[in-house]
Amino acid sequence: MASPDRPIALVTGGSRGIGAATSLRLASAGFHVAVNYFSNRTAADEVVARIKADGGSALAVQGDVRDEEQAARMIEQAAPDGRLDVLVCNAAAATFTPTPVSALSWSDFRTKVTDELASAYVLAQRALALMEKQKRGSIVFVSSTVADGPPAPGMTAHGTAKAALNTFAQFLACEAGPMGVRVNVVAPGFVRTEASAHMPKAVQKQLADRAPLGRLAEADDVARAIAMLVGDDARFVTGAVVPVDGGSTVSRM
Ligand SMILES: NC(=O)c1ccc[n+]([C@@H]2O[C@H](COP(=O)([O-])OP(=O)(O)OC[C@H]3O[C@@H](n4cnc5c(N)ncnc54)[C@H](OP(=O)(O)O)[C@@H]3O)[C@@H](O)[C@H]2O)c1
Repeated sequence: MASPDRPIALVTGGSRGIGAATSLRLASAGFHVAVNYFSNRTAADEVVARIKADGGSALAVQGDVRDEEQAARMIEQAAPDGRLDVLVCNAAAATFTPTPVSALSWSDFRTKVTDELASAYVLAQRALALMEKQKRGSIVFVSSTVADGPPAPGMTAHGTAKAALNTFAQFLACEAGPMGVRVNVVAPGFVRTEASAHMPKAVQKQLADRAPLGRLAEADDVARAIAMLVGDDARFVTGAVVPVDGGSTVSRM
């Protein structure tokens, strides 16, 4: 149970990769963190244990973010007394294999797009209902630079899904602002996580060389941007899509 002194954050997919780094960073900023996971309980327990070992507060929350009832239950577990300060919709629930449109079935395309939006919609709606009562709160969606960048081969479904997520977030920011709730997006480029480990090393090197900051992103680079957006230093920032890509997007212009 969270102490009444600590703000509460729910991080979806908070057990591995960008989500784990975000859980750790928000915990070190004083949040009680609900660390959501889907199937890997051990990874979630490890993040919770690391947070507690550092004097923080956290609990693991199982649930499939694509499922309406499970998403609602996750909010209840994260915020048992109806208090929720931060929601980070990060889970990599809409998995995909890069495929050109000519070889991608409508069914697979639809699944990718609807999974991405389902992962955000119910959680954001439920979180907003709690935050509206508090007249404060912050929601961050984890998107991707693939939504706005030059169309990358085979990435139509992923790019379309993330672009829809960005647009959803901007509509939500307009609706949530008068409730005292901020809504923003971080858009990472390539980030070194288990999900991206299959990328050939030569391609990773090309991406690092192309970035003005000269390296690939680590999960904590994205976590820091999320922590900044949910913090008071960003108190007048809403509806923003913040690239976290070492400048790769601008260097392509
Ligand atoms: N890595 C990149 O290069 C990159 C670049 C741009 C954007 N992103 C975005 O960043 C986010 C995180 O990616 P990542 O690379 O950190 O992924 P990751 O290392 O594979 O971690 C995925 C996390 O999502 C959880 N998850 C998967 N399916 C879920 C579901 N249905 N319900 C709830 N949780 C679920 C996993 O939990 P379990 O382990 O329990 O399954 C795990 O905690 C994604 O939205 C991704 O699109 C990543």
